[in-house]
Amino acid sequence: MRSFFHKSIVLFLLTGLVVSCADKERPNYQFMSNTDMYEPIGYEAYGEYDIFPGGQSAMDPVEGTVARGWKPYEYENTPDGSSQAKTELENPLPYTEEHLTEGKELYTIYCAVCHGDAGDGQGILAEREKILGVPSYDDVGRAITEGSVYHVIYYGLNSMGSYASQIDEKERWQITHYVMNLKDQLEGNPEREYEEVGPTVSPDDPDVQAAQENVGEGTVLTEEESNN
Ligand code: HEC
Repeated sequence: MRSFFHKSIVLFLLTGLVVSCADKERPNYQFMSNTDMYEPIGYEAYGEYDIFPGGQSAMDPVEGTVARGWKPYEYENTPDGSSQAKTELENPLPYTEEHLTEGKELYTIYCAVCHGDAGDGQGILAEREKILGVPSYDDVGRAITEGSVYHVIYYGLNSMGSYASQIDEKERWQITHYVMNLKDQLEGNPEREYEEVGPTVSPDDPDVQAAQENVGEGTVLTEEESNN
């Protein structure tokens, strides 16, 4: 019993000694110091590390996967792909004032420096001869179509770079509407009419009139029907 008492006092003093050495301003003693929980390794996205396949922390996407919001574009960047897109590919967006206005804004940001506000190939960079060979959209030899415009925005063409990473799919089609609009203006064609979007309901429609009459009569639902 006595020796237990002595041992307790020694233990108490030792503990006191250890605790009193703790400095709240500095990190404390560390048990199991070899675990990553205490000292995590911060990998840099593009840092080189042997433990990753390819030796880099940022890894390639798994083969066959598609990023969210990104749809594969099926035409290849080849002369064949280009001529296929030119003949087959059509603008999926309706020709509305809203799409055209947004297309114009985007065109002014991305394209007008070279192609000019009117699409005649006389943008500020072309005027100052910073870039050569910018065509006008009514160039007969090129005979651009919706499909060819989209294809060129996607892949670029010679000294014109690709805009696939800056401009998303919808925006590319909005710009395409605007480019075709500029082409029409350059060629002196009449303005294309805006398309109606969604189903339009006319008050003269016999179905609509019948539906309105039914509402007027007011049908009382049985309990079962109103629960549905
Ligand atoms: C840096 C200047 C530059 C910018 C910016 C630029 N282009 Fe071009 N674009 C060119 C040049 C140069 C060509 C001619 C390429 C060739 O045929 O070698 C061209 C060609 C084209 C053609 C004709 C392609 C064909 O089928 O022959 C279209 C359409 C076109 N550009 C649309 C656009 C659109 C839309 C944008 C904006 C998203 C844009 N360009 C931005 C320089 C530019």
